[in-house]
Amino acid sequence: MATLTLDAVSKIYGPRLSHPVRAVDTVSLALRDGELVGLLGSSGCGKTSTLRMIAGFESVSEGTIRIGDRIINTLRPAERNVAMAFEGYALYPPLTVRDNIAFSLLRDRIPKAEVQQRVAHVAALLEIGDILDRYPQAISGGQQQRVSLARALVRRAQLSLLDEPMSQLEPQLRAVLRARIKDYLIEHRMTTVFVTHDQTEALALADRIAVMEGGRLQQFASPTDLKRRPANFFVASFIGEPPMNLFPAKMVRENGGLAVEVLGEDGTPGFRLPWPHAGRDLAEGRTVHLGIRAHEIRLGAPRPGETALDGVVVANQWLGDQSHIALAVAGVRLTIVTDRALAAPVDTRLALALPETALHLFDGDSGLAIAHGGRPAVAAAA
Ligand SMILES: Nc1ncnc2c1ncn2[C@@H]1O[C@H](COP(=O)(O)OP(=O)(O)OP(=O)(O)O)[C@@H](O)[C@H]1O
Ligand SMILES: [Mg+2]
Repeated sequence: MATLTLDAVSKIYGPRLSHPVRAVDTVSLALRDGELVGLLGSSGCGKTSTLRMIAGFESVSEGTIRIGDRIINTLRPAERNVAMAFEGYALYPPLTVRDNIAFSLLRDRIPKAEVQQRVAHVAALLEIGDILDRYPQAISGGQQQRVSLARALVRRAQLSLLDEPMSQLEPQLRAVLRARIKDYLIEHRMTTVFVTHDQTEALALADRIAVMEGGRLQQFASPTDLKRRPANFFVASFIGEPPMNLFPAKMVRENGGLAVEVLGEDGTPGFRLPWPHAGRDLAEGRTVHLGIRAHEIRLGAPRPGETALDGVVVANQWLGDQSHIALAVAGVRLTIVTDRALAAPVDTRLALALPETALHLFDGDSGLAIAHGGRPAVAAAA
């Protein structure tokens, strides 16, 4: 077990070229002992660069990386006791699958009987027990990926770094392996960082998720917090399926109180929602973004603390266990999710109820969260 700390770490490729690339930009993260952390973000956001700096395959341009109390910036990879599963697998072609997985254990002079037992165990876990005697060029891409993952897991290193460890696998196998890998990591109390661009995987596996975009850390938080308290507009739009309803809006006066006036695509006023929550910074006229998760909008008449809205069905899709219904509400497009099939074809009018506690507000310029569920957003972890 180990704690990993990144303090304002940056990676600049080609610093002396005319167009240097700032692939990772002042990222700070502090992992707990035995924690399972997901690095989540779109392609090119700096996930692999971050991982390779931690492993020692890429130099650190700025900032410090520590394992425990020790600064590891300039240690060679072999000196860090870090196991890494690479995005491109990097298997040894002349070695069988078994020897690929056993390689680092034998190098560390672990007794042969124990090596055999550990290799057999991870191979069974990842369902590659039947290909142990084959060579890397004679197995499929998805199998190669699992061999690469097995090679990292089998080491039980103080820190494991897994770069897109299951991207090549079909969803069913992925879901099964996900649960097994999580159990294995917990059993051996392994501190782990895994990279993914699949949010379901990150939400299912990770204790905390570091959301990255454009080389910058957007938020580092638990799956629950990412959904309930997204730190900014980007995280709100990125996490959740279907994506959060997000609208440009403006704070206005109404009946002596404040209301959020949602603006349509062409900037014309759409519907209004009362904003009964006192907020320091919510001056009249302030531009904001209003966010509402699709599954928090109810069908039916409003109860206390809810606002009634009237929508017209634009699209209605039944996904087998839930409906995604797109509605036009005062010229604004809104998506809701219900767990039942609804006989509501296009142009049907539906009564909606919007709980005040479901509303998120973000600043119109900076995108930073102002309030979640009516409560002021605390300063983001990012
Ligand atoms: N060796 C390199 N030299 C110059 N630029 C690089 C190098 N490696 C990566 N980059 C750039 O740095 C940025 C981050 O790349 P990185 O591989 O870390 O992204 P990623 O989040 O892992 O993406 P993906 O999901 O596609 O694997 C990208 O803009 C990429 O083009
Ligand atoms: Mg990558």
